[in-house]
Amino acid sequence: MKSIIDDIQESLRFYKQRGCPGFDCSEDALAKMTAWGQSPPSPIETLDRILADAGDCRACAMSQSRRNLVFGEGDPCARLMFVGKAPGPEEDARGKPFVGPAGELLTKIITAMQLTRREVYLCNIIKCGPSLHSPCRTSELNACYPFLRRQINVINPEFICTLGSVAVQTLLRTKAPLAHLRGRFHDFHGIRLMPTYAPDDLLQNPDKKRDVWEDIQKLMRAMER
Ligand code: URA
Repeated sequence: MKSIIDDIQESLRFYKQRGCPGFDCSEDALAKMTAWGQSPPSPIETLDRILADAGDCRACAMSQSRRNLVFGEGDPCARLMFVGKAPGPEEDARGKPFVGPAGELLTKIITAMQLTRREVYLCNIIKCGPSLHSPCRTSELNACYPFLRRQINVINPEFICTLGSVAVQTLLRTKAPLAHLRGRFHDFHGIRLMPTYAPDDLLQNPDKKRDVWEDIQKLMRAMER
């Protein structure tokens, strides 16, 4: 790197002496170039690094009530990521996403897709729970969202299935109701995103199971291609 920069600097000095126009040969430009070779290598982003950054997060009030941070689990190279809103009491107690009653239902949905929990990646927007107030505050969502964004960047899935209105509205930056958003793919930075109801919604309203199964079947068909 250093020899390349030396060569470029030497050429620029030569052009400067010759009075050639169209090149930035100022001392400032040459000094900036020297700094290229000296800048530290950018750290490689990994899920472990994000977990370490999130680990002791105190950015919002939810951190005060958490027992365990619920970061996410599954295949770090998964083609499909499920994103919910926030952990419930069972998830908080165990530090794992979707392990309570809603999680059992989600596991059944994943099995019906001919997949296992280990083959997908499961996480939430908010990493601390349970929520002290429903719906979650915008400040809490904003504080936690960067961790999810980094997780998505690292996993780089082909598909995201958002569970519930908060998850899709946060990712797509929309206030549109879930009923209008579900059932079709949306684009999230080149990733195909299918919104559907959260398993918690299904426990309250079992009549939504038909809609969820329709959404999941669309997802399965797209994943087959
Ligand atoms: N609901 C969610 O959105 N996330 C969980 O982890 C559990 C229930």
